[in-house]
Amino acid sequence: MCGIVAAVGTDNVLPILMEGLKRLEYRGYDSAGVALVQAPGRLGRAREVGKVAALEQALVAAPLTGMTGIAHTRWATHGKPSQDNAHPHMSGRVAVVHNGIIENHLALRAELMADGFVFTSETDTEVMAHLVERELQRSDSLLQAVERAVARLEGAYALGVIDAEAPDRVIGARQGSPLVVGVGDHGCYLGSDPLALLSVTDRFIYLEDGDLVVVNQGGCTVHGLAPDGTRQEVVREVMRFEHDDLAVGKGEFAHYMLKEIHEQPVAVANALEGRLGADRVLIEALGPQARELLADTRQVHIVACGTSYHAGLVARYWIEELAGVPCQVEIASEYRYRQVVAPPGTLFLALSQSGETADTLAALRHARRRQGDDAYIGSLAVCNVPGSSLVRESDLSLMTHAGPEIGVASTKAFTTQLTALMLVTLALRQVRGGDPELTARLVHRLRYLPTLLGDAVALDEEIRGIADGLASHRHALFLGRGSQMPIAMEGALKLKEISYIHAEAYAAGELKHGPLALIDETMPVVALAPMDDVREKLNSNLQEVRARGGELLVFADPESGVVAGEGVTVVNVPACCHYLAPIVYTVPLQLLAYYVAVARDTDVDQPRNLAKSVTVE
Ligand code: AGP
Repeated sequence: MCGIVAAVGTDNVLPILMEGLKRLEYRGYDSAGVALVQAPGRLGRAREVGKVAALEQALVAAPLTGMTGIAHTRWATHGKPSQDNAHPHMSGRVAVVHNGIIENHLALRAELMADGFVFTSETDTEVMAHLVERELQRSDSLLQAVERAVARLEGAYALGVIDAEAPDRVIGARQGSPLVVGVGDHGCYLGSDPLALLSVTDRFIYLEDGDLVVVNQGGCTVHGLAPDGTRQEVVREVMRFEHDDLAVGKGEFAHYMLKEIHEQPVAVANALEGRLGADRVLIEALGPQARELLADTRQVHIVACGTSYHAGLVARYWIEELAGVPCQVEIASEYRYRQVVAPPGTLFLALSQSGETADTLAALRHARRRQGDDAYIGSLAVCNVPGSSLVRESDLSLMTHAGPEIGVASTKAFTTQLTALMLVTLALRQVRGGDPELTARLVHRLRYLPTLLGDAVALDEEIRGIADGLASHRHALFLGRGSQMPIAMEGALKLKEISYIHAEAYAAGELKHGPLALIDETMPVVALAPMDDVREKLNSNLQEVRARGGELLVFADPESGVVAGEGVTVVNVPACCHYLAPIVYTVPLQLLAYYVAVARDTDVDQPRNLAKSVTVE
């Protein structure tokens, strides 16, 4: 979604703001803008439609300087991408950047217009600028004006506010959208994501809902909201963000997505690090209450969105087969709005790369509200971002340790999620006394998984060679069976989101119940053929496609019996056990989508209309 950076420093902060915007571009990027206090009483602002590079160019032509400033990358929600709609929004001496949605903005707009304020954008955010400007006329300080203004807002927001007459500070506010304070040696900062600020600090305060913060050169003061609605100064822990800053760059790769695909062997090794004993999963490494929570679990409800949802679908096969625990998987935006029956002993498992996806968070909060009534026994977050809202609000969290994922299309976050979910599955199995021999075999294979993923990544050249053939098509079908069915869904999602080719996934056995009508020589069919119990049946499904002229591209185990021939291209995937095959078969599908997108010359890392972290409903 949108991104916020703000800084109060001892020198011109424009370079810090621009670097932050570049690092945030992956979140949302139809326009970008910056505002600085250029001198007491004087604000300067620049806004451009398009990428941060366009803003950068505009600032070369008309430079801005200042020691206090706010900046924003926008992903349009209210009003089209345009210069007028880009943030920061200004009202007199005030400038504001905002992430989230102000739900009562129409009523506020009418009220402010009646008061004589003139609106220049279609955004919900502009009401905040005018509200603060109005409140300043009857407040003692900028903090008080912002406090009074946010009291009028309904919805979700992370805000950064500056005042030309208070040039030494930025006020931040958080309610439902992430916001962190970066504590540096030469200034203090605000960011919607710590990644934005890693060039200046690795020390962060994760603000809580209701917090207001005054940021100035020397540090910050947080004002928390007590349950009775009163405000008081609070101390929030400063946490160190463990990172390798190099991991944030593209390195030798053309795109972040390709780099992140290639990082998967290391990322998965990190996800396993310290969590495997000789022949079992170290349940204690999953958290102090993990053993008790998993032992009491009678069924699992997995809730997630997009790629994370696909990881959950794979986990259902594992959890039911290997742990014997009933498992239900649901898209968060559906789960939260229906009357879910959660029988006693339900473990709520929230899956999210970012830990800030609005629908997943709302589903977690919905489940937590019902935790007391005996149905949900607890919540477990499987997440990649330490300190994220999902992690902080769950009883237990299992970090996936994928490292920063910048490409909008999720790759290493997905394979590390699957790895973490296999750990959860085996832990559930262990506490239920499942046959230890199979557990030990799977633990042994998990140790070998990074090597297998290295072999899968080595298919890069071969897949690049066949991608052109797919790039000219307008549609594609993906087929899988069993736990490969969600991988087919993930392959189709990857292809459509970065190459804009329409792609659908079907359980191969379902083909003859309708989609077979689509098959002719213009419909490429991508199929997954690992060594599993249904490979003969899958082979029959593939014959049905061939018989109707469909071109097949099959990712197959070398022993699967699928033979290349006219209209059938076979890519051999490293041999692996069928439990871990979903993780391994993901990699060639990511590479396929990547090279097809490159052949079609799309914006691979920042595909149109999409944003990395969907923090609005
Ligand atoms: C897929 O490539 C996307 N990045 C998207 O589907 C993503 O998985 C979804 O928005 C959920 O995000 P989360 O894992 O951060 O919750």
